[in-house]
Amino acid sequence: MEGIKESIAAQAAANSFIGLWQIVNEVEGAQLQKGFVPHLWRWDVLKPLMGEVSKNITLQDADRRVIIMSNPGARHKHHSTNTLYLSCSIYNAGELAPVHRHTSNASRFVLEGAGGFTTIEGEKCTMSRGDLIITPAGTWHDHGNEGDEPVIWVDVLDLPLVENLAVSEFEFEYFEKDDSGKETRKEYQRLTLPDNYSTMVYSSGGFLPTFINHERGRSAGSPMFVYRWSEAKAALNRMRHMKGSPYDGIILEYVNPINGKAVTTTTSFHVQLLRPGEATQAHRHTSSSAYCCLEGHGRTYVGDTVLEWGPNDMFVIPNGAPHRHENLSGTEDAYLYSVSDAPAMKHLNLYREEHVNP
Ligand SMILES: [Fe+2]
Ligand SMILES: [Fe+2]
Repeated sequence: MEGIKESIAAQAAANSFIGLWQIVNEVEGAQLQKGFVPHLWRWDVLKPLMGEVSKNITLQDADRRVIIMSNPGARHKHHSTNTLYLSCSIYNAGELAPVHRHTSNASRFVLEGAGGFTTIEGEKCTMSRGDLIITPAGTWHDHGNEGDEPVIWVDVLDLPLVENLAVSEFEFEYFEKDDSGKETRKEYQRLTLPDNYSTMVYSSGGFLPTFINHERGRSAGSPMFVYRWSEAKAALNRMRHMKGSPYDGIILEYVNPINGKAVTTTTSFHVQLLRPGEATQAHRHTSSSAYCCLEGHGRTYVGDTVLEWGPNDMFVIPNGAPHRHENLSGTEDAYLYSVSDAPAMKHLNLYREEHVNP
């Protein structure tokens, strides 16, 4: 009997088949999707590396200068979680990256430097520490640094999800019409809107101009491309005396001002305040998350792993892993920025969340 089974398996393998009985435990125990682990990338390790990169890698090497947080447990070495790509970019003074668009939703969250900008669909979005800039799928964008110091930001994309769906596409051929109506290929976009149009039109919540077309580019995401840290921090602090979420403390989602939903179709963005000494309860959800600490110090427990974080440290929580957060300080606030793939899971009716007992 064993000989026959082996013979069938060999025949199957030779013809690119496999018997379910050979892998049933992996399939039903979801072993095939495992591999991604909780992991923290320390800023005191990454920062000097970014300095070396800024001196020795040119923008032309990949059109951008980026270090990717490559999950040590992952099969695909340029993925941070099963669906999220977390990376860090550095632009030296005066550098520009050419215009492009892609089928991935992308974002940047500024860590250092005040001269960075992204031009998105004709709007120049300036940025400084803690500001969130989103480039929803299908929006043309180009980046640069017009300051005197290097600019460093965190990028989070849904690239692994889009790659796994086999629909990742990057376009670099961008054309603009000149005054005579002739189309010419351009390296950078012409500015067609006032600087920081997003802030002007959308940042005072509760007032939506009805004389504006809110569709921007080929995007199904938020038409508000910039979310300021000063406004997010002020909003968190206005609510700091409330009870907050048992799992996240005082937490806010950055939302699409048109419909109150997540700012991209696949990813949602949050910022949270953990008050001095605050320790949350544990939960787990089918979504995965990427985090960056903006201020303060604390610990996040993910299963058996303890991730101890401080300013600019980044970490990931894989899909389904139980986790809880702690602000270690008795005096200092802690602020965490995070990106989640929960909207993608919800669109597919795959989102589940549950409390975990200690
Ligand atoms: Fe991009
Ligand atoms: Fe969570």
